[in-house]
Amino acid sequence: MSFDRSIKIAPSILSADFANFGAEIQAIEAQGADWVHIDVMDGHFVPNLTFGPPAVKAFRPHVKTVMDVHLMITPVDPYIQAYADAGADILTAHVEAGAHTHRTLQAIRAAGMKAGVALNPGTPADAVEHLLDLTDLVCVMTVNPGFGGQKFIDMTSKIRKLRSMIGNRPIHIEIDGGVDPKTAPLVAAAGADVLVAGSAVFKGGSVDNPDVYGANIKAVRSAAESATS
Ligand code: DX5
Ligand code: ZN
Repeated sequence: MSFDRSIKIAPSILSADFANFGAEIQAIEAQGADWVHIDVMDGHFVPNLTFGPPAVKAFRPHVKTVMDVHLMITPVDPYIQAYADAGADILTAHVEAGAHTHRTLQAIRAAGMKAGVALNPGTPADAVEHLLDLTDLVCVMTVNPGFGGQKFIDMTSKIRKLRSMIGNRPIHIEIDGGVDPKTAPLVAAAGADVLVAGSAVFKGGSVDNPDVYGANIKAVRSAAESATS
């Protein structure tokens, strides 16, 4: 994975057909997805439950781009090796998930993955200031994590602050929650380069009608790019 700050669209398969993940992943990649975003929820850190390492391992052969795994679980550390074995390229843990995020990020890198750190809407940018040298991606949540299809919460000032804290370091800023063609320009202008989108990508489409995914991805990308040029 080489680093660049071009806009990348990462559809969240939380909005896909749960009976058909392999075909859904293939469809979004064929329709222009840059990364595939996988939301792991434990019914404890967040009030919803999705999938664990065996499911993520089953997704792996279908993902030809980047498998971006977002852990909304606590504790994190006992499961890091299982997600490495499942083939995650990027593993993101929440800074709110435990007292020792520094150790968690070190362990993620030691297991051979890129390390991401996510911030809930109520958590300030400063929470990651001393973690940046151990981090490949900062995920700014623009909804309270747990469900797709929620209303975007404006975190523009946090994104700007992070962008300035990051400077020239090769660290992605990812936005997760309520990203659509209306909100994408706001976050892109503030300095985000990875846009997660669930409902905005999957709405109206299916594996039998995948062109809709392509049009939806294009709409988010064009809106974001128009704000950065
Ligand atoms: C929220 C998840 C998101 C979610 C985004 O807890 O982390 O990735 O699926 O969904 P939309 O784009 O529908 O807000
Ligand atoms: Zn997510």
